[in-house]
Amino acid sequence: MICSSSERDILFKKFASKIVHNPYLDRTLVSFQGNKYAAFSSWFKYREGFSERLVTYIIENSQLQPGILLDPFSGVGSSLFAAATLGWQTIGIELLPVGCFATQARIIAQQINFKLFQSIIYELKKINFIDYYDQSYAFNHLKITQGAFPEVDEKKLVGYIYYCNKFIVDKDIRTLLLYAAFCILEDISYTRKDGQYLRWDYRSGRSKSKKQFNKGNILTFEFAINQKLKQIELDLNGDAIQLDLFGDNIPFLSKDKSVNFQNIQPIIYQGSCLENLPNLQSNSIDLIITSPPYLNRYDYTRTYALELAFLGCHEEKVKHLRQTMLSCTVENHDKHNYLESLYCTIERYSDFLKVHSTFEKQAALQEVLEILEIYRKQGKLNNKNIVRMIHNYFYEMCFVIYESARILKPGGIIAMINDNVRYAGEEIPVDLILSDIAHSFGLTTRHIWTLGRGKGNSSQQMGNHGRSELRKCVYIWENSCC
Ligand SMILES: C[S@@+](CC[C@H](N)C(=O)[O-])C[C@H]1O[C@@H](n2cnc3c(N)ncnc32)[C@H](O)[C@@H]1O
Repeated sequence: MICSSSERDILFKKFASKIVHNPYLDRTLVSFQGNKYAAFSSWFKYREGFSERLVTYIIENSQLQPGILLDPFSGVGSSLFAAATLGWQTIGIELLPVGCFATQARIIAQQINFKLFQSIIYELKKINFIDYYDQSYAFNHLKITQGAFPEVDEKKLVGYIYYCNKFIVDKDIRTLLLYAAFCILEDISYTRKDGQYLRWDYRSGRSKSKKQFNKGNILTFEFAINQKLKQIELDLNGDAIQLDLFGDNIPFLSKDKSVNFQNIQPIIYQGSCLENLPNLQSNSIDLIITSPPYLNRYDYTRTYALELAFLGCHEEKVKHLRQTMLSCTVENHDKHNYLESLYCTIERYSDFLKVHSTFEKQAALQEVLEILEIYRKQGKLNNKNIVRMIHNYFYEMCFVIYESARILKPGGIIAMINDNVRYAGEEIPVDLILSDIAHSFGLTTRHIWTLGRGKGNSSQQMGNHGRSELRKCVYIWENSCC
């Protein structure tokens, strides 16, 4: 029976010289909060997003010349848009329609007919949307979103959706107007996104917790939509002024310029990166900047249920998305058979076997899994599926890293943002395990930059429950073979 941290200690020693505190990377810079005042990216609060300034920092620090950047977990596209402004061609892969819609809306916003948009939102202010309520556009609730809005605001929301679909002829403007409504769903609801779940305000009558939760001000539909449209208008106007500096009097891109602009517009694949990465050409990508879901049980399909419902995802679709996501919740099932048959179909079974055996040989990971399995049998875990989740998370990440290494050009770089975690007192050094897996696939670790106080865990601290600071890191791996 293994009950020590010896394999993790060995791994820590192996990478100790690479773990460096980077004072530039504070938590605000790395998280969504870093986008708080940034035009475009602050329209929709995607808490799992990272800040675009972080992407700029990583790119500048990489000293790579603009080429092709990929983000296999692209969310709302932070890395894509930040890199595009620096002249990179960008590709994103994102599973959830939420992130894809946000990315698409932002692409559209950048080429919108601004004058027309402005005149339409001026007209919209005069409309009472409840007059346009139409049952055939009723909000497509999921079980977990029923009763999320005050009745009258839900009717106005539906009236607004109906109005946009029926009366706004310009497709891009219609999409942007609908996106504005998508961005305010949480604000006008009784819910608040809270990691693993939606929290319900006591006024909804749905709150299950003993402690009453008050989310504060719940905005009315009119107030929220007008405020959001104003924000979008101001940002687009600001952007137009910037573009004007290039000598064009039109407050949005002219056709000629949009040709140039389109060259650097993100390409986005909606689907799982486990399925999409194997289709990308070997040695074709210069830089990968990404942040996979963390191993923290956060269920995006629950926290973004309002937005998924808005986008027309029904119960079965949401369940399917939950299972297709990189395993990071206790509900995720094993993808072993799925991956095996995928690699058989694309006639790369030997690659499957290689990845599979790398996973099995990762000693520090196997050590944690064995210990946690003992805890599970002893009833010490607060959920019996935690071991399965951790197992599946790393199993799938092995495939992501293998494919990323394969498609990276020599000299190319991967930057990954992730947090370490702890279950039942056992620290899981996600940074070291993933970096070691990356080594198995031919990558070298340039840095493991830590954030926060940056003390990095000493090997002695590893088993010292709850005392050591869990590292939040940005890892930089490179393909140094020439
Ligand atoms: C930490 S977030 C990344 C956010 C992103 N960096 C941004 O700034 O918006 C992880 C993302 O991975 C997506 N995701 C989860 N499983 C996926 C999969 N199998 N394939 C592609 N994307 C996935 C989630 O929907 C989520 O948007």
